[in-house]
Order: sequence, then C-alpha cells, then structure tokens
Amino acid sequence: MESLSNPQAALAALAWQIELGATEAICDTPVDRYALADRAPVAAAKKSGDPAPVVPVADPASDPVALARTEADSAGTLGELHQAMAAFEHCDLKKGARNTVFADGVPEARVMIIGEAPGRDEDREGRPFVGRAGQLLDRMLAAIGLSRAQSVYITNVLPWRPPQNRDPKPEEIAMLKPFLERHVALAQPELLVLMGNISCTAVLGRRGITRLGGNWTQAMNLPVLPMFHPAYLLRNPAAKREAWADLLSLKARLKGST
Ligand code: URA
Repeated sequence: MESLSNPQAALAALAWQIELGATEAICDTPVDRYALADRAPVAAAKKSGDPAPVVPVADPASDPVALARTEADSAGTLGELHQAMAAFEHCDLKKGARNTVFADGVPEARVMIIGEAPGRDEDREGRPFVGRAGQLLDRMLAAIGLSRAQSVYITNVLPWRPPQNRDPKPEEIAMLKPFLERHVALAQPELLVLMGNISCTAVLGRRGITRLGGNWTQAMNLPVLPMFHPAYLLRNPAAKREAWADLLSLKARLKGST
C-alpha cells in the first residue's frame, strides 16, 4: 500500500472512504480515550508498587441498553416513541444515517411486519421497505389481499442503516430491542410477521430461517410467523414457493380469528 504520507495517496484513500459511505472519522465501535488514559497510571503504579489510583467504574446510568429501556418505556404513544428513538444518541449507526426510519402503514393494523434495517433507499426516504425488496413485499401482501395502505404496519429491528448494508451487530440489536418491544406493545397488533434471520434473532433469540420459516411460534405475547426476507427471495426465486405457502398460512390465520 502506498504511504499515506504522500498527500495524493492520502487524498485518494479519503475519496475512497467517502465513496463507501464514511461520513465521520470514527470507527464502528467507539474507543473511550478517557478510559485508556486512566489505565496508564494503574499500570505504572503496579510497576512502582504505589497504591493504584482510583479508576472510574462505568456508570449504570450510561449503559446504552438501560438508557434505551428507560427512553422506550417512558413513551406513551407511537409518536412519542418515534421522537425518543430519533433523539437516542447512543448508537453509532445513527451517525452515518440520514433518517430515523420508524414505521410505515396502518398503526392499528392486525398484522405487524418486522424487517431488518433500512437500506439505501429507506435511509433516503425515511420509510421502511421502499426499495426493491419493499416492492416485492408489497406484491406479496397484495397477493393475499393485504396492503400497507390499509391493513399492515411495518417496522424494522433497527431504525438506522448499517454502513454498506452490513448485518447488524448483536450489541446493536440488543441496544435497540427495548424500542422494538415498546413499538409492538404500543401498536398492539394481533400477530407479528418476522422477515428474515435478523428479526428472528431479535425477537425469538434464534436464527435459521430455513427451519423457522412457516412455523408459527409465540413471542412478545403474540403469535409470530417467521418468513423468508423479500431480499432473500429476490436472490433465490425458488424459495418463493415456500413464501407463498407462508402467506396462505397468514391469510388463513387472519380469517380464522375474525
Ligand atoms: N430490508 C429490511 O429488512 N427493511 C427495510 O426497510 C428495507 C429492506
């Protein structure tokens, strides 16, 4: 690799990072420089035999999962929850996102669909499932007489686009799960549809969509149907057959409980 002391090479490397979507000079995982600075005196004290200086212990009030839980639980309406999520500053994904993608569709709907995370189109528009996968999702719903305009509410596990559409990290899912749980509690759907492995991981604590798909289960006190993600169906059209069976199962379930 050419030395970055060469200004032309440094500029080219920067342009490349910007093209990849980098918007800030930070890493995915923040480094607490203050904590690093505190460790040096401890090591020095150990060597010299002096009593170790007092090192500040992480304050539970700054635990991002606990903070998310407090913020989420204090939201009394979906509008307040949206505001609380948009104001939550503890997840680095937010720094690289244009929008907080909250939800779309009918909040009172019987069916709540949980996807993974916004992609480029969703990040730009601020609505979930508006890209190619979303268009396929709309066609799938229409095939059983459902639509986001009338009968479905849609959200994602994460409201912010991960860089380069990478998979969400377990710590990101854990941090934002209190918001998802509160979202479901406030929307009060009759059942949940989980699109793909990430939402199965977040809601069921399990992945393996090939095995889970089409098998009704229970989570968050609701019946839950895991299904292949529409993006997976775009890449693997042969799996549409199973997706169709799952859609029919969803339709029958809704009919049976009217
Ligand atoms: N994929 C998802 O899981 N959610 C979106 O909003 C878009 C694509």
